[in-house]
Amino acid sequence: MNILLVGSGGREHALAWKIAASPLVKRLVIAPGNPGMASLGELRALKATDVPALVALAQEIAADLVVIGPEVSVEAGLADALNAAAIPCFGPVAAAGKLESSKAFTKAFTDRHGLPTSAYKVCDTADEAKTALAAFQPPYVIKADGLAAGKGVVIAQDRAEAEAAIDDALGGRYGAAGARVVIEEFLEGEIGSLFALCDGKDSIVFGSAQDHKRAYDGEIGPNTGGMGTYSPAPVFTPELIEQTRLRLAERAFAGIASEGAPYKGVLFVELMATKDGPKLVEFNVRFGDPECQVLMLRLESDLVPYLVACANGTLAQLPAPVWRDEAAICVVLAADGYPESPVGGSIIRGAEQDFGEDVVVFHAGTSRDPDGVLRAAGGRVLNVCARGATLQEARDKAYGAIARIDWPGGFHRTDIGWRALTPR
Ligand code: GLY
Repeated sequence: MNILLVGSGGREHALAWKIAASPLVKRLVIAPGNPGMASLGELRALKATDVPALVALAQEIAADLVVIGPEVSVEAGLADALNAAAIPCFGPVAAAGKLESSKAFTKAFTDRHGLPTSAYKVCDTADEAKTALAAFQPPYVIKADGLAAGKGVVIAQDRAEAEAAIDDALGGRYGAAGARVVIEEFLEGEIGSLFALCDGKDSIVFGSAQDHKRAYDGEIGPNTGGMGTYSPAPVFTPELIEQTRLRLAERAFAGIASEGAPYKGVLFVELMATKDGPKLVEFNVRFGDPECQVLMLRLESDLVPYLVACANGTLAQLPAPVWRDEAAICVVLAADGYPESPVGGSIIRGAEQDFGEDVVVFHAGTSRDPDGVLRAAGGRVLNVCARGATLQEARDKAYGAIARIDWPGGFHRTDIGWRALTPR
């Protein structure tokens, strides 16, 4: 098979690593990719939102499948254009992608289709939003409506902080994505990320993980796109997985199909495990980053048949995916200043050495000089991932590898996986 993979982050590096290992794959082309992916496929320097160029590339390489990594490609209508060109595609059409690209749409969708979530109010002006705060208790959750690369969520401890977040969002901090805000009730509980594949009609659960969203140890600091993950996470009891499947994933797939946009691809259900069961925090219409990295380390089955089946409507014909019994962890190395203003350009040494077969370093925001020197070129820069018989073993391997990477321009959390390693 010829496969075109779209995207350039740690998520796409992990997908490329797993796709390249499939005996079904003859040719893997990645657009645009990153320096870490160069050994896995052919890189083409196209933007993930350049829909006409990506469709042309898929035609040029006679792609049997296009795998859409990031949400920006979904929002740009890449799946719609590929469908029109009769090219099989893993990833939803833009109308289904509104489950991520508009938080206001998603909240109204949960009302229409009976998905449990937090109380909320959508506001178009700062006055309206500040008045609406009176109906909520601190901490206040303020979200930009649109896509903001994981940075559009503020959890404000008091009214002044909430009002500043409202002014920031509606004042243009996130561009058009912040033209309206959603104020949400803060949910008490433990956070979790569950993944489900859908082929337009049938769906299956496809792994789970726990992310650490705050920038610094101890769950403090600004919200980020994710500073580290591990899987399996104890929060995901069989009961929670089943409740999440029935109450959130399946209702979402049925609901979006009934609205004329059958879902093909992966749905990432970010949920809060509350005392009343799982409640939706948000949907994402792609794999999580850095959740995908730990899922790919744990996935024993070949990934490619599942991606193809989502595109072709044949998911029901596949056996349940097999997951390794081992634990996996991913620790994100971010550039100093992330998430507010990451400092680019610093030199990274030692990230590409052999750390042993259970350690993989996935690149996210990196660039390579002509002489081979690796540099930081983004907020989240590297993902140091490891597998082990236990989470503690995986964690020791990951932090052992990090100690051998020489990058004074970056930082990481030292407590990834703490919830699983703290007696409950
Ligand atoms: N790790 C959270 C996300 O991918 O949005």
